[in-house]
Amino acid sequence: MRTLLPRDLPLWHDARGFLDVRSNDVHTLISYGLARALCAEHPQADTSVVLPAILLHDVGWKRVDPALLSEAVGPNPKHPELVRVHEIEGVRIADGILQRHTPEGVDIAQVLDIIDTHDTVKQAKSLNDAMVKDADKCWRFTPHGVATIAGWFGDGLAETLDMLEDFVMPSMLTDTGRAMARGFIVAARAQMESDDYLKGHSDE
Ligand SMILES: [Fe+2]
Ligand SMILES: [Fe+2]
Repeated sequence: MRTLLPRDLPLWHDARGFLDVRSNDVHTLISYGLARALCAEHPQADTSVVLPAILLHDVGWKRVDPALLSEAVGPNPKHPELVRVHEIEGVRIADGILQRHTPEGVDIAQVLDIIDTHDTVKQAKSLNDAMVKDADKCWRFTPHGVATIAGWFGDGLAETLDMLEDFVMPSMLTDTGRAMARGFIVAARAQMESDDYLKGHSDE
């Protein structure tokens, strides 16, 4: 089974040119896969809304000055207002892409509504919205997410895992999303500590 559904391939081809900043292309593919996994556990979720929304949610970062990207996020961001900018620009770009393809059965208004508040509103307004928010956040716990975030803030692996566990995990919206995130964390930590355990340095 390939990551992207055939229905969403035309959207991906149009979105790619907007996702070549901040590792957003790989982030998007991984989050799309995570969204499919979440929806498999929540059959009431509508994948024809969730999957186009996660595929297009971050296209707006392309419109933000690359020099300011790293100052938009993190514990003490200098330009937090840019998070709202990428949502607004993202809605505009995603609208163009969706209108061009008008994929069958896709509720474009609902997709755009989810993109519009995917970062700045913490609560979910629907199950579909919760799937997108948790898939987006769950990426941070994956090997690609951890490596990317550690690079942004110059932190080590152990500090990054602790930060994710203490500050991001509690904001997961579904039990499924939290379980997936916890699985990634324990695997990363065990792998990190395995050398020590294998050498017998951390027996206690
Ligand atoms: Fe975003
Ligand atoms: Fe994202």
